[in-house]
Amino acid sequence: MEFATKTIHAAQPSEPETGSLIAPIFQTSTYEQEAPGVNSGFDYSRTNNPTRARLEAVLAELEGVKYCAVYGSGLAAENAVLQAYLKPGDEIVIPLDVYGGTYRILNKVFQPIGCVIRQTDLSVPGALEAALTSKTKLVWIESPTNPRLLVYDIAAIAAATHAAGALLVVDNTFASPYFQQPFQLGADLVVHSVTKYLGGHSDLIQGAVLARDPVVFEPVKFLQNATGAVPSPFDCWLTLRGLKTLELRMQRHAENADAIARALDAHPLVRRVYFPGLASHPGHAIAKRQMTGFGGMVSFELDGTVEEVVSFVSSRRFFALGESLGGVKSLVCHPARMTHASIPAEERAKLGLADTLVRLSPGCEHPRDLVADLEQGLAELEQARQAVGAIV
Ligand SMILES: Cc1ncc(COP(=O)(O)O)c(C=O)c1O
Repeated sequence: MEFATKTIHAAQPSEPETGSLIAPIFQTSTYEQEAPGVNSGFDYSRTNNPTRARLEAVLAELEGVKYCAVYGSGLAAENAVLQAYLKPGDEIVIPLDVYGGTYRILNKVFQPIGCVIRQTDLSVPGALEAALTSKTKLVWIESPTNPRLLVYDIAAIAAATHAAGALLVVDNTFASPYFQQPFQLGADLVVHSVTKYLGGHSDLIQGAVLARDPVVFEPVKFLQNATGAVPSPFDCWLTLRGLKTLELRMQRHAENADAIARALDAHPLVRRVYFPGLASHPGHAIAKRQMTGFGGMVSFELDGTVEEVVSFVSSRRFFALGESLGGVKSLVCHPARMTHASIPAEERAKLGLADTLVRLSPGCEHPRDLVADLEQGLAELEQARQAVGAIV
C-alpha cells in the first residue's frame, strides 16, 4: 500500500457495528466487563482505548513498524523513552542542535538525578565515536534539526551507536514519516511531537514513540500506563483526521518552503538561509539520500539587529507569530526569545544559534502569498533604515 493510501485506509476499517465510515470517538473512561477480568481487550482508558489504539496502529503503519504508543505531548513521549532507558550513571549523547525542550528535560530533570548528557558536534567526523562510552545507553538526534535544519547521516550514526551497544532515538517531527523513514536507516526508537505535522492543524498537543523491536518498546509502553501521560480520545480522533491529508499537506508545505528559501536566499537583507533543499546547505547531499523531500521548514538569519527581527516577525500578514510548527496556517518564530529561550545566551552562541535567526513554518497557503508577505516585511525594514538614515 502506498503512503497516501495508508493514511486513509491502514488500520481504519468502517466501524463494524454501524458501518460508520469514520471511527467514532470512544469517549469513555471504563468498559463493562462480562465477568471479573473478562473483557474485549479494554478495561480502563488510561491503559487502552479504541480510538487511541486505532491511532497507534495507523502511526505504526506510517513509520513501517509494529509498535507505537501515544502520549499527551511530544515531551511526555520523550520523557517515556528517557525514563525507560536512563538510570543514574547512564549516559546519553545529543548533538549541538537539539530542540530546546529536549535540552531542558535532559539538563533539568535527568542530569540532577545523575544521568550524564554528552552534547557534541555530530557533524564533525569521529565526534560521536569519541563521545560514546560503555555507559552510553542512548544517542538522540533530530534530523532535520530545530531550528537550523541541520541534517545528520542517520545510517552512519546508527552504525556507530550500535557498535557501542547503545540505542538510537530519532526525533522525526520535522521530516514526518512522509519524507523520512528512520527505521529503514537503523533507528531503534522514533519519537514525534504529533502536535506538529502529524496533527497538522495546530489544534492539539500530542506525542508518540515508535519501535520495531517489542523488547525495545516494552519499557516505553509500560510507562504510558504506569505514569499515565495519555492523550484524550478526542485528541486521538483529531490526529486520525489530520493524518488523512498528511501527504497532501507535506507536499504543499515543502513546495512553500522551497519557494520561500529561494526567495530569501536571493535577498540582500538575508545573511543566511537554512533549508536542506538548497544546494548550498551543508546537509543537502545527505538529505537527498535519506529523505524523499526536504521538509517544510525554513530558517534564516536576518542581516540586521534583534530589534529589526522583532519588528519583522511581529508584523507579518500570513505568518502568525507563535511557537510550534507544522500546521496548515503559517507561523513565524524568533527562537532566541521563544522556543530556545530556555537555553542560556552563551550556550546558544556556542550552538551557533544567532539571536537574529528567524524560523518559518510555512503552512498550506499559496506560495505566492507567503513569499510576497516576507518580501514585504524585508522591504519595510529597508524603508525604516532609509528613514532613519534620512533623519541623521
Ligand atoms: C523537534 C521537536 N521535538 C519535540 C517537541 C516537543 O513536543 P510537544 O510540544 O508536543 O511536547 C517539539 C516541540 O516543539 C519539537 O519541535
